[in-house]
Parts: sequence; structure tokens; C-alpha cells
Amino acid sequence: MTRRHEHDASDAEPSTPQASPDGPEAAPRSVGRRGLLSAAGAGILAGGMLGGFGGFAGGRASAEEPVMADPLERAYPLRGEHQQGITTPAQDYLFTAAYDVTTTDLDEVRRLMQQWLVAAEQMSTGGLVGGEPLANLQAVPRDTGETWGYPTSSVTITVGVGRSFFVDAEGEDRFGIADRMPEALAAGVPRFAGEALQAERSDGDLVIQACADDAQVAMHAIRNLTRIAVGTAALRWTQMGYGRTSSTSTTQETPRNLFGYKDGTNNLKQEDGAEELAKQLWISGEDSGGAHLAGGSYMMIRKIRMNLETWDRLRLVEQHDIIGRDKRFGAPLSTADPTSGTDEFIDPDFAATADGGPAIARDAHIRIVSPHGNKGARMLRRGYNFTEGSDSLGRIDAGLFFVAYVRDPRESFFPILDRMVTTDALEEYLRHVASAMFVVLPGVGAKDTMFGQALLG
Ligand code: HEM
Repeated sequence: MTRRHEHDASDAEPSTPQASPDGPEAAPRSVGRRGLLSAAGAGILAGGMLGGFGGFAGGRASAEEPVMADPLERAYPLRGEHQQGITTPAQDYLFTAAYDVTTTDLDEVRRLMQQWLVAAEQMSTGGLVGGEPLANLQAVPRDTGETWGYPTSSVTITVGVGRSFFVDAEGEDRFGIADRMPEALAAGVPRFAGEALQAERSDGDLVIQACADDAQVAMHAIRNLTRIAVGTAALRWTQMGYGRTSSTSTTQETPRNLFGYKDGTNNLKQEDGAEELAKQLWISGEDSGGAHLAGGSYMMIRKIRMNLETWDRLRLVEQHDIIGRDKRFGAPLSTADPTSGTDEFIDPDFAATADGGPAIARDAHIRIVSPHGNKGARMLRRGYNFTEGSDSLGRIDAGLFFVAYVRDPRESFFPILDRMVTTDALEEYLRHVASAMFVVLPGVGAKDTMFGQALLG
């Protein structure tokens, strides 16, 4: 159907632990790619570029702050008040993996979280897992090696747990910690109109999001962490993404999504300040589950197939009306001249009129999902494009791997998604094919020995 035009509708010092990711024995310290560790002292930005976040643990760089300026050499310390990979300026590539835990022993899960932490810390400072595998030619290398000598590439590794980590399908407590499950996870993800979800591509007990400015570096992180998990957790699904579809910092230019529109203009960004991020993004100690999860956030995932071929047949004015913004410059259609090239960041005026109707259509995407009509709720979007070959009709199988971080999905995600799938003009060109919700664990403290220390320790 063609849409009408009318408006009707580093710390470079990994402190602890020294256990190897493959076992309890001491692991060699990671060797930085291109001398990264020593360079950390010389090239530290420590918040100068990004601002807004005080140093963690005595003024050291936090997990959100880079320790080097060059995009490919940039490294983010793993330890901090919040995990890296959320407010971190969105990198170019994503590789996310969800896992099913295969053990019934909580100690084995703890051991995995320890091993993942050691390996993640080594990789996020530019090293290989277990150090360079040169010492013993007869040993199987601990690291798979595909980034040996590569720059760190801004890699971040973010770990979370899902509802099914706490309780099984019958609601039985799996590891004796179900009383620590926050209410939002316990309630689960509601069903939404029109969705066609593939169960095997949805949900999961554990999640790791690896982002980097080099796809192979992100792949390396997931591959090695998956290898470490063998016997304790098995891969459930993975997703590769390219071409970030959001900016999470005002230092970044707004990228475009596969419909060709600037995406991320009005995103929640790290420069919004600690107070706004505390309100919208981070789980607080007073929230349900906050005793063990304060400093974490909910990772909301929707894999959305985009019908590119149908979209590409729309007139430009129709595309504009559906989004509510100008395609070239990203300005809201309510500004006097959206094509002036100066108005991308001007607030949309939903009361403005044009040609006898609302300047921003009643069913335009930005009107439906705006905080303006959603009790001020904001989310930090951090999605990526995906392309997975073509379908039997010769159409490109592509879309948006939508990821948003929120403090409480019941207030600032589900109601907005519900409005979107029932009233947003954009929905005609979309199909939601997978869904997941995880709670990202709090940041790794200076003395923590595992991801999720407060939850599992
Ligand atoms: C393939 C699907 C989608 C496409 C192509 C898309 C595209 C866009 C575009 C072009 C913008 C305007 C630029 C900006 O402010 O970032 C935008 C804004 C936004 N989108 Fe989406 N989006 C999609 C899915 C979603 C979903 C699933 C949600 C969450 C339920 C969502 C929530 C938002 C929000 C909150 C804004 C900011 C609105 C504002 O404050 O002005 N989007 N989207």
C-alpha cells in the first residue's frame, strides 16, 4: 500500500584476579597489541574528550572512558561503575551472543564469570587470552589468534543475564538465587501485535555484547569467550551487526539506518549528564533487584527485518512523513526549513502545522516514540544494521538489530513499543523476528573477581 501524503493517521593494570580463563592457575599478563599498555600512560584522555563521568576507583579512567585517542588504538578499561559498551561511543561493529547455561551447579557459573572476566580484561587491553601463545609449541593455544598484532579497536565486552538464568520454564529456581531476580525480569517480555518471533533466535540465559571498530576484533571476543564457556554454557544464538545506527555521544556524527535516515539524533547520550542517565538508564539501589544489580541496565533487543524493496518504492515525501524528519539533514519536519542543514538537533514541535495538517504526521515514527507522548521516557538506543543474504523472493534479508538500554522496561520500553507496533506508520515496512531482554550486570569493581560479583559472589 502506498502511503498518502495527508496527515491523518586504564587502568592498564588488571588488578584481580590472576586466574587463567581456562583454569584456576595464574595466567600470563596480556601483552598489549602495539605496546598498548605502556602507551596508556602517555595517551590517556581520561574523560577530557567525553566528559560527564568522574573517574572510577580513585580518579582512574572508568569503563566508559577511553584511554587512547586514535579510534583503532583506543581501549576502554573494563572496570568501572557501569559496564563498558553502553554509554561508550557506539563502535562500528557488533557481535552479540546469547547462551544457555548447561550446568546445574552455581559454582561452575561463578567460575565461568571469573574466567570471562580475566579473558575480557585481557582482550579489552589489547591482549590475547592467556597472553601470546609462544611459550610451548606443543600446547594448544588458549587464544584463537585472529587478532594477533591487531589494534585494540575500541573493543568493549558487556555481560548480562536473562530471566531464564534465574528460573526454568516451570518457574523453578535454577541456582537458588531466584529471590534476587528483579521484578522486571520476572514479569518477562509481553507479546506484541504482529510479531513473528523465532524462539531459537530469541531470549537466552546469558548474553555477551562485543562491540569494536573492527568486525574481526568483535568476533574474536565472542569466539574466545564462547570457547571458554564450553561445558558450562552453550551458544543459543549470535548476531553480527555493522554500521551502527545510533550515536551515543555528541562527539559522534549521526549515522544512517538502512532506510537512509539519520538515526540517533534524539538518542539518550552520555553528555546528557549523570542525573538524566541515573533517571533513565541505570538501575538504582532502590529499584527491584537493586541490592544486587545497582549500576546495571536492561538490554532490550528486537531483531527487526526491514522491507527495503517496498520502502525503496516510496516517494521521498512519503518517507519523510513516515519518519517525521528530513532524509538529507535529519531535521524534524516542524522546523521552518528542514532542508537548511542546520536544524537536526532542534526539538520537534508536534503542535506545528503545515498545509492545513500537522507538520509531523500523527502516525510519524518520531511522534509515536517521542518522550513527549510517552511520559518523558527515554532510552539509550545502540542498534546495528544486519544483512543475511537474500530470501526466496530475491529480496535482501536485512534490517535493524535494535538494542536499547533502559532503567525499567515496564516504564520506558514496553509501552513505547506497544504504541509503535499498533500506531506507527513505519510498522508497515517492518517485521519483528526476534526478541530478548537481559539485565546487564553492574560495572566490575576494582576488587571484583567475576562479572556479577554482587549477584553471584
Ligand atoms: C527498523 C526499525 C526502526 C527504524 C528504521 C527507526 C528509525 C528511527 C529514526 C530515523 C529516528 C529519528 C532520528 C533519531 O532521533 O534517532 C528514530 C527515532 C527514535 N526511535 Fe526508531 N526506528 C526503528 C525502531 C525503533 C524501535 C523498535 C523503537 C523502540 C520502541 C524506536 C525508538 C525510537 C526513539 C525513542 C526515537 C527518538 C524519538 C525522539 O525522541 O525524537 N525505534 N528511529
